Amino acid sequence: MDDKKLIFSGIQPTGTFTLGNYIGAVRNWGPLQEEYNCIYCVVDMHAITVRQDPVKLRQNTMNSYALLMACGVDPEKSILFIQSHVRTHAELSWILGCNTQFGELSRMTQFKDKSQKHADDINSGLFTYPVLMAADILAYNADLVPVGVDQKQHLELARNIAQRFNQRYGDFFTLPEPYIPEVGAKVMSLQDPTKKMSKSDENPNACILILDDKDTIIRKFKRAVTDSDSEICYREGKDGINNLMTIYSIFTGKSFDEITSEFDGKGYGDFKLAVGETVADALEPIRTGFAQYSKDKAFLKKCYTEGAEKALRYSHRIVSKVYRKVGFVDMG
Ligand code: TYM
Repeated sequence: MDDKKLIFSGIQPTGTFTLGNYIGAVRNWGPLQEEYNCIYCVVDMHAITVRQDPVKLRQNTMNSYALLMACGVDPEKSILFIQSHVRTHAELSWILGCNTQFGELSRMTQFKDKSQKHADDINSGLFTYPVLMAADILAYNADLVPVGVDQKQHLELARNIAQRFNQRYGDFFTLPEPYIPEVGAKVMSLQDPTKKMSKSDENPNACILILDDKDTIIRKFKRAVTDSDSEICYREGKDGINNLMTIYSIFTGKSFDEITSEFDGKGYGDFKLAVGETVADALEPIRTGFAQYSKDKAFLKKCYTEGAEKALRYSHRIVSKVYRKVGFVDMG
């Protein structure tokens, strides 16, 4: 490869991404292809840390792959693949796990949250999830990792694991940097704007799915929880309005001051409608693209097979060096 920096990122196969996934991460993946070498993957191995229906997981993985393409990831420009197709991730994960402390993993807030949510199945995969994530990144020696703010702690751990490995075995891994957008790194729930927008929210109105139709998107925004004030301005304590202003600003390119002037003398109802219509229109090409890509199973298969071959070729070079470094006997 050339001397461009290498980007790696992944997303769980939920089938349809949330507006949070889109704004915080995926929206940037397409444009980054023009400046960097990019490797993106649908992380089906991470998904099975919580119980999955196998038929649905397969379907959701394929849909997520098609949806990434609809969001602008071009398998000709990036390496786009499905995690379980590339064995080096699991192989490296074992070695990194032997260089990760129990205490470090115990401090992960996502583990604590998820073990509360899935109290009947606190499996060891849920616990070692961040080690697999570190392996995803380090198997390519990625420089930058575009993610939302909720993944920052996992990324710091990946850096710590890489650093420890380098100290034990000699400088080898690049320390990956998070690439977190300045605006929109944490899109909040529409029903409780102090919480992150998440697909697992029990209230379907809390979360916009990027494949929701226009009417659904507008309806969800109209029901968004705001405050008892009536001023449309970005201010501490106005979590609901701040969240809507952030979303509107991202899709219109307008600053918060410009938005405040635009809605001067208007009420929350007008503002919510404008946000809903803007988001629905901006997501329309993604819905159309997804309908096309997801129909063409043969093309999808060709893309994910080629993606996996390229990813394996790339990561095998790195992981086989790691095998040698830790003292595994060369197969020749
Ligand atoms: P996942 O699938 O939960 O989310 C995918 C991306 O979306 C971002 N995100 C958000 N950003 C802003 N506001 C929100 N409400 C919001 N919700 C989600 C996430 O930060 C993420 O960037 N463990 C990862 C997937 C992963 C990965 C990796 C990422 C596996 N291996 C290696 C980077 C590098 C996850 O579960 O993301």
